[in-house]
Order: sequence, then structure tokens, then C-alpha cells
Amino acid sequence: MVDAAREADPLELDSFFQRSLPVSRRPADELLERLAAVVREVDPSVCSEPVAGLAALRDLDFLLCSVHRARPAAYKEVTGLEELLGALGEAAGHNPRGSNTTYALCNPLDQRMRLFTGLPEERMFINELAAGLRGLDDVLRGLIAIVDHGVDSAEAAAAAETLVPAWEPMIGATVAMLRSMPPEVFSGEIMTSFIPLDIAGTEYQGVTGAQNLNIGIDWLLWGAGSTNPSYTSYARTNLSEQLPAHIDLIANVLDRTRGATLLDHLERQLRHGPVADWAAADRVLLHLEGLLRRIGSFRAAHRRLADLNLPLRYTPTGSGGHTIDLLDELADATRQARQRVQALRDLVRERGGSAVSAVSAVSTDAAAPPPAPRQRRAGDQVRPLTCPPQESRRRT
Ligand code: HEM
Repeated sequence: MVDAAREADPLELDSFFQRSLPVSRRPADELLERLAAVVREVDPSVCSEPVAGLAALRDLDFLLCSVHRARPAAYKEVTGLEELLGALGEAAGHNPRGSNTTYALCNPLDQRMRLFTGLPEERMFINELAAGLRGLDDVLRGLIAIVDHGVDSAEAAAAAETLVPAWEPMIGATVAMLRSMPPEVFSGEIMTSFIPLDIAGTEYQGVTGAQNLNIGIDWLLWGAGSTNPSYTSYARTNLSEQLPAHIDLIANVLDRTRGATLLDHLERQLRHGPVADWAAADRVLLHLEGLLRRIGSFRAAHRRLADLNLPLRYTPTGSGGHTIDLLDELADATRQARQRVQALRDLVRERGGSAVSAVSAVSTDAAAPPPAPRQRRAGDQVRPLTCPPQESRRRT
């Protein structure tokens, strides 16, 4: 669905996005006129077709955020606009505005790319995000296959082998950002357009990494069993903002584990069930541990990005309204999950005896430290931040 949305231009805005003045710098009157024209001219079929709905929400979000920054709440004067957004959200099974999914995964990666700023850094950010996020479907699919085939099967072992390669681009994306994205540009120019918007009386958060599918991956691995109130509140808000197909996949697999997280489910199988093939179970755990190790590596590098950026902002939070504490909680929970898998591997080795021996080792070294950030170059300007403080939590 996201690939088809990437190709789609249901509001015929391709040429509008290709003009040289970036959308975030266009006069409010021009943006308001364009929004009014969209409401007047939209083909009604766009409101009944999920792919078109998603692509339309993608495009409208650039106009809405830009006009709201120039003239707060002025988009509310466009008659019929909020009703249209509501209908598009219904069609797409999505909030009635854009999200990280529409901004990154549904954004064309060629000359049709939609940008707020027109800056090469924003283009790079979208390319990297898209490259990182694309593998997450495969991670989810691999985890579901482990549940469906059972930890002691060759099929589960084969599925587990795909997990780390599918996750790796998330690390590549974060490292690319550390190397090439000046924090002043990200926090001062790009992220200032990731703002909450009120649509028909409900406030929806702007583009945030918290909307990514990895929230569903955490939830399935260990999160559904968490009793940490700050984690569960973060997870529940953002789980509800996943694409409908992902929400269904996660709900259905949790039905099949009777509500248990993947780690609880595996623990139950290994401690209490008959285990047909201990070597296959060990291979599953080896790769699962590898995945958790690499999620930890992503989080260590990503924490560095947050450290460099948050001090430049009016409030030290992300666009989803979260502080470093949330990122630290996620990193701790990932570490604990990895330790649980290590303990299960010990159990499998103990019980499986000689059947578990020659499993090839994936390195279990601690996460490599994140690379040094890009050095400031002569001529770089530190721009003062010009946006007002944002209230960025969703209010319903
Ligand atoms: C300068 C660049 C970046 C900064 C400053 C940044 C900052 C943040 C912050 C503060 C959060 C907490 C949620 C919020 O309040 O929005 C967050 C969440 C998140 N971001 Fe980023 N981010 C950056 C780039 C990226 C990139 C390139 C990726 C993906 C490859 C990414 C993926 C995520 C994910 C998955 C989360 C959810 C938390 C987690 O699972 O650890 N971010 N980000």
C-alpha cells in the first residue's frame, strides 16, 4: 500500500511541489488558496480509496503545517477542509492528517519528493528514513513466523535468520544522520514543521519517529507484557497510529499467543512444552538475541542524535513530545529483553545437550559506540530557532 501511495498524485500536486520556493516559505495566502482549490476540485473517489487517501493526506500535511506556522489555525477558515481530512482518514484507516508513514514511506524518492524546506538535508533525511523503515515489515513477518512455526522448527530458524539483515538499515539511517545532518538544520529548519494540528476538535501529533512500526515490534517482543505506565501510555498512543494492516497483524499474532509477548511465548514453549529440535530452538534464540543487540545499537546511535538536537529546541523534546527519558527506557527494556533471550539460550544448551553445539556464532559483542557526529565546517551558520514552543502531545 505505501509503495502505491508513493506513486500516487490524487490531488494533482506534483507540479506544485516542484516549484523552486519551498512549501514552508510560501505565503500563507497562496497555501490557503491551494487548500481551498483542493476542497473544491477533489475527485470524490479519492475519499473512498485507501491508497489515494494516504497520498492525499501526505500532500495536505505539507500545506497544513506550513500555513499553520505562518498563520496559526488559518487552515480552519477553509470551508470543508476538515471534513475532507476526516473522509481521507476514514478511507486510509489513518489519522486525518499526515504522519511519519506518509512523510517517509509514502513519499516519492525521485524528483517528485515532497519537502518542507527544499534542503538537501531534508531529502537525505527522507531517503534514510525510508531505507530504514522499509525493512521493518520483514522484521515483523520474521517474528510472526517464529510464533506460527514454533521455536523448535527449521522454518522458525530460517525466519529468525532474516531478522538482523532486515533491521540493519535502521542503524545505517541513524549513522548517516549522525554523519551528515547538522543539528541546527534538523532542529532549526526541518523539525519545526513536525507540529501538532487540531482537526475537527482533536489534536493530532505531527511527524514523529514514535509512529514507526518498530513500536509494534517492541510490543510483540516484550512490550505487551510491560507494566511501566510511561511506556504503555507511549505505546498505546502510537500503536493506534500504525497502518491498519500492521495493527491487524499484531493483534492477530497476539491472539495466537493468547496475549503473551513473543518472549513469554518462547519461554513457555521451552520450559514447559515438548521440544522437538533443540538445535533449531538455539538458532532461533541466537538470531533473536542478534536482533535485540542491533536494536540496542540503533538506540545507542539514535540517543546521540537526540543528545545533539534536543538542547537546541525550546523544549527538550521530540516532535512526539517525549524526552530523553523515554529513549532511555526503551534502551533499558531492550537490554533486559536481550538478557532474557540469553538466559533462554543457557536453558536450551543445558536441556538440549549435544544436539546444541555447532550453531554458528553471531557476534554478541556489546553495541559498538555510535560514530562521532559531523564536525561543524567553516562557514556553517548556527541559526536561531524561530518557532514558538509547541504543545506536541495529542489531545483527544
Ligand atoms: C536528527 C535526527 C533525529 C532526532 C533528533 C530524533 C529524535 C527523536 C526523539 C526525541 C524521539 C522520541 C519521540 C518523540 O518525541 O518524537 C524519537 C523517536 C524515534 N525515532 Fe528519532 N530522531 C532522529 C532521526 C531518526 C531516524 C533517522 C530514525 C530512523 C532510522 C529515527 C527513528 C526513531 C524511532 C524508531 C523512534 C521511536 C523510539 C524508539 O523506538 O527508540 N529517528 N526520535
